[in-house]
Amino acid sequence: SKSAGVITCRAAVAWGPGQPLLLEEVEVDPPSAMEIRIKVVCTSLCRSDVTQWQSQAQPDLFPRIFGHEASGIVESVGEGVTEFQAGDHVLTVFIGECQSCKHCESGKSNMCQKLGLERRGVMHSDQKTRFRVKGKPVYHYCAVSSFSEYTVVHSGCAVKISPDVRMERACLLSCGVAAGIGAAWKVADISKGSTVVIFGLGTVGLSVAQAAKSRGASRIIGVDINPEKYEKGKVFGVTEYINPEECKEPVQQVIKQITDGGADYSFECIGDTNIVSTALQSCCDGWGMTVTLGVPKTKTEISTHYAFLLTGRTLKGSLFGGWRPKSDLPSLVEKYSKGEIQLDELVTHDIPFESINEAFNLMKEGSCLRCVIHM
Ligand code: APR
Ligand code: ZN
Repeated sequence: SKSAGVITCRAAVAWGPGQPLLLEEVEVDPPSAMEIRIKVVCTSLCRSDVTQWQSQAQPDLFPRIFGHEASGIVESVGEGVTEFQAGDHVLTVFIGECQSCKHCESGKSNMCQKLGLERRGVMHSDQKTRFRVKGKPVYHYCAVSSFSEYTVVHSGCAVKISPDVRMERACLLSCGVAAGIGAAWKVADISKGSTVVIFGLGTVGLSVAQAAKSRGASRIIGVDINPEKYEKGKVFGVTEYINPEECKEPVQQVIKQITDGGADYSFECIGDTNIVSTALQSCCDGWGMTVTLGVPKTKTEISTHYAFLLTGRTLKGSLFGGWRPKSDLPSLVEKYSKGEIQLDELVTHDIPFESINEAFNLMKEGSCLRCVIHM
């Protein structure tokens, strides 16, 4: 109901950078104008939740509730919301689509000027938080904060899905998997018969692989320092595997040799800015294209020899695979329902909310793909 009051529920609160999350009773405000309050059903843990939680860069933004890859059910809607009603099934998104700003209207960008990536731990509309713990405000993450039984998001940061869709798996389309698929289909627009190199075979890299495979790429070369990733890679269409730590020459030299001068496309799916230059050198002169997807953990500058651009390569950045969440995500969800997108194979662990720290540990150790947390 529109007059719903404050809800008290459990949330996993981070009290400081890298500190284990504590399950706390939090108060969740009712949704403000154009916002919706959601009962979170499932939320998967994404690498960037871990990266931000570990980062010392914003120590003032604690206590904080992380989480942004989620599925849930609308509990109540704020003033002015006509698109959603209580009971609707939704996916949350970390970049919204207001459908009225210059970028949204351009039809060629997902960089919404109103509901873009929120970095200050508050809601877009009033720069305030909707959570309190022990009387203190709790910061949001990406204006989603799904590690809570209930959360408030802007109605432009949620996408309605059919109630038939499996919520325990569809949450993966909320970020990482969609980013990988979009990088391959929309940003690179991979053509049949192409040679593709993927740096990093985590969930994001494997999603690039499955999308490259469906476009008919003839070779999909996976580069990862963790040999355990290769078995999983095969499931998603990776045809060859290179461990850079076992190469006698730099990995880009090896790739150039086995691809007659470089691949058609390369993808940075590690989150290491040093790899951008390696990826650029791994694609060919003339038409080679490198797409970046990773979110850097430490060094944020990139550097490379200008010659790699002079010789005709393209370096393209992307966020969320270039998808506009409201316009494009429903069709990806439908593809999952029809079996045209693999999600289930990316889930290595299903974890109850109480054990959320286990998911953080697994990701820190590199021993999972996606952990789905059940609320
Ligand atoms: N060379 C090759 N592979 C590496 C290297 C390296 N120097 N360093 C790490 N890797 C591999 C890891 O072994 C792992 O398999 O990169 C993979 C990264 O996967 P995950 O950590 O599971 O991350 P994922 O969720 O796939 O996200 C990848 O995209 O959205 C961003 O923030 C995200 O930056 C992250 C990236
Ligand atoms: Zn917009």
